[in-house]
This record gives sequence, structure tokens and C-alpha cells, in this order.
Amino acid sequence: MEELKDKICIVTGSSSGIGKAVAKSLAKIGARVTMVSRDKPRGRIAYEEARQIGGDNVKWIPTDLSLRSSIENMVNTFQSQHERLDILLNCAGENIMKKEMTPEGFDRLFFTNYLSHFLITNLLFEPLKNAAPSKVITISGSSHKAKRGEGNFDAVMDFDDLQGNQHYSYAKYAKQYVLAKVLLTYELSRRWESYGIASTTLCPGLTRTNHTDTMPLPLNFLFYL
Ligand SMILES: NC(=O)c1ccc[n+]([C@@H]2O[C@H](COP(=O)([O-])OP(=O)(O)OC[C@H]3O[C@@H](n4cnc5c(N)ncnc54)[C@H](OP(=O)(O)O)[C@@H]3O)[C@@H](O)[C@H]2O)c1
Repeated sequence: MEELKDKICIVTGSSSGIGKAVAKSLAKIGARVTMVSRDKPRGRIAYEEARQIGGDNVKWIPTDLSLRSSIENMVNTFQSQHERLDILLNCAGENIMKKEMTPEGFDRLFFTNYLSHFLITNLLFEPLKNAAPSKVITISGSSHKAKRGEGNFDAVMDFDDLQGNQHYSYAKYAKQYVLAKVLLTYELSRRWESYGIASTTLCPGLTRTNHTDTMPLPLNFLFYL
């Protein structure tokens, strides 16, 4: 824990659940944390809670991770304050059950849950390199793996219809974005190891957070149990 003191960290998805808990823990250890979530009351509440713990070491950059322009603003703001980044935690995620397009023309599920992580990580290459040895941690999941009862259905990347524009199914594309995050982690490891940037991913397991809020009530209740 002592090693994390004064480390410069970004935590996306910091207004709720796992990201919020991590941001507060890092603040407690004395790390310098930039929290990232949308400009919602819960984002401000989480920020104020973390600030009470970490004081001026804690910052919040309200960002909509479904928008490329908002991500670019966030990265520019961060870079105007810091030259290096020790730890990037890609934690934000949202269940979007029905097909929805962003104003920028991307599938919202795929963009928020995968492309935003891809973009943030790549845009932050220089500060990560400046802090080497540094680390990118991407929260993924395990839904890309075949489960009993579903047959032998491992997720695949559907490169012919990456965003489900021809045929959308939440079950298929929710698995696909998890697989995409795992593949991104491997590829980053391969490409960035020589710069001293480690890349890793983890499945948190079933964790009681707000992650199922947007699911239909019966499903939400099942997850709650
Ligand atoms: N909980 C589980 O059982 C479980 C299992 C496997 C994997 N995971 C993964 O763990 C990660 C954390 O989820 P959680 O369980 O902590 O869920 P959560 O409580 O719902 O938190 C999700 C976080 O993501 C942020 N977010 C969502 N859409 C955003 C957007 N468009 N722009 C900016 N921020 C956005 C939310 O911020 P806003 O305030 O802006 O909404 C919130 O801070 C996710 O990647 C999830 O897929 C969770």
C-alpha cells in the first residue's frame, strides 16, 4: 500500500460501485486520484466523499464516456494538470439493453463499454510512458466464456457487424465487448511492455453494485439475490 502513495491514478466509473470503492481506497492510501464519471449528482457526491478522505489529492473530471469529444476533453484536462500517469483503471460500464446510437453515430453499448476504454488508454500513452513502470487495469468480466446451459457459446468478435447494426442482440454484444476488453489487454501487453507499461484485466465476479439498474426488474431482482 505504501507503494501507492503519491501515485497518479485515473479511475473511470468512479461515481458508483467498484470504481467508487477503488477511488476512495486510493485516496485513503494517499494516491493522487482523478475520478471520471458523468456530470450527475452521484458523481459529485462520490467526489465529495473521496475529497473528504484525500483532500486536494482528489480531482473529478465530469465526462460522458459514450462521446469521443467528451473523452478527448477529459484527456486534455488531465494532461494540462499532469505529465505522468501511474495507474489507469478502466472501470466504467453500463448495461444498455436496447439498440441505441450515440449522437456521434456509434452503437452506445459497444462505445461506452469498449471503444471508450480503447480510446482513453491510447490517448494516455505518453503520460503512461512517462511514469513507467506504469499500469493499465481494465475491468472485464467472464461472460465471454461459455457457460453451462448455454451450449458451447464462447463469444466471438463479429467483424462483419461489429456494432450490431444489421442484427442486434444484447446477449451477443454484451459478450462481445467483454471479449474485446480481454483482447485489448493482451494486445496492449504485447505492444507496450517494452515501454514499461503493464496491462492487465480482471473479472470482479458478481458484485452488488448499481450495474443491473437498467435491466428489466425480474432480471435485476435475480442479480440482486
Ligand atoms: N457488478 C458486477 O457484478 C460486475 C460483474 C462483471 C463485470 N463488472 C464490470 O465492472 C465495472 C464496474 O461496474 P459496477 O458493477 O461498479 O457498476 P455501477 O455501480 O453501475 O458503476 C458503473 C460506473 O460506470 C460509469 N458510467 C457508465 N456509463 C458511463 C458513461 N457513459 N460515461 C461516464 N461514466 C459512465 C457510471 O457513472 P455515471 O454516474 O456517469 O453513470 C458508474 O460510475 C463495469 O465495467 C462492469 O461491466 C461488474
